[in-house]
Amino acid sequence: MPIVAINKTTKEKITKTIPYFESKNILIYKDDFLKTTAIPESSIDLIITSPPYNVDIHYNTHRDNLSYEDYLQFTRKWIAKCYELTKDDGRFCLNIPLDKNKGGQQSVGADITKIAKDTGWKYHSTIIWNEGNISRRTAWGSFMSASAPYIIAPVEIIVVLYKKNWKKTSGSKKSDISKAEFMQWTNGVWNFSGESKKRIGHPTPFPIELPRRCIKLFTFVGDNILDPFFGSGTTLIAAFLNNRNGTGIDIDKEYCDLAIRRLQQEAKINQSSLLA
Ligand SMILES: C[S@@+](CC[C@H](N)C(=O)[O-])C[C@H]1O[C@@H](n2cnc3c(N)ncnc32)[C@H](O)[C@@H]1O
Repeated sequence: MPIVAINKTTKEKITKTIPYFESKNILIYKDDFLKTTAIPESSIDLIITSPPYNVDIHYNTHRDNLSYEDYLQFTRKWIAKCYELTKDDGRFCLNIPLDKNKGGQQSVGADITKIAKDTGWKYHSTIIWNEGNISRRTAWGSFMSASAPYIIAPVEIIVVLYKKNWKKTSGSKKSDISKAEFMQWTNGVWNFSGESKKRIGHPTPFPIELPRRCIKLFTFVGDNILDPFFGSGTTLIAAFLNNRNGTGIDIDKEYCDLAIRRLQQEAKINQSSLLA
């Protein structure tokens, strides 16, 4: 919600966006990420997000069935905006599918990675997240025949990018990762289960283990974390529980309210303002 205020000294107009929720270290904006002016440029140490995948998920507000071309255009816009908001030594953990199997095969992981590089992001590596999803498979293509079999990898990827310098020089310089965590997580195949939609009450939550690992591996204590599509607020909970500042945007009011409830229940956060 942008409001216009007047600077008493200079008499200049200042547009300020009021957070939907704010509490110690956490800011939530109910807004369209493409339009929001809430986040200052070059202020973010790490972006962690899983954007809409364009696989016809029934979100409350967002339409998740664009043509592939339109989806890639939307992707280009939001990834370019992320670049502007990140510090020069800031990083980006982008959780996306490897492939698109529904409604025509697409190399969505590769296509989005290319877009990120085209918008200025530098490539560091790709983490394979093995969800161990052995749920019922129905799409075999031509079962037991070479005529047209389907290959489906039960994994997602986390593309690790950075803005200008991989070596991190800003921030507290205080890391809180253990030796065992560092050794395990720098192996780029991560094995942990997905999150239950039913338990969380959102169609596509990721498990808290995903942002927790990214935060401890790639940021210092006190750093600024942004999730431009926070959904049920998982990244913000991980930020709060690991003593980082979390900012999140979601276009949908119900999801903002869900994230606030989760922050109160799972992170025991105090509510200091909740605006309509
Ligand atoms: C894949 S979900 C994120 C799930 C999240 N990682 C979690 O753990 O719950 C994507 C979210 O993006 C939101 N969204 C879609 N378009 C948006 C936009 N233009 N600006 C902000 N949020 C948007 C949707 O409402 C949805 O909650």
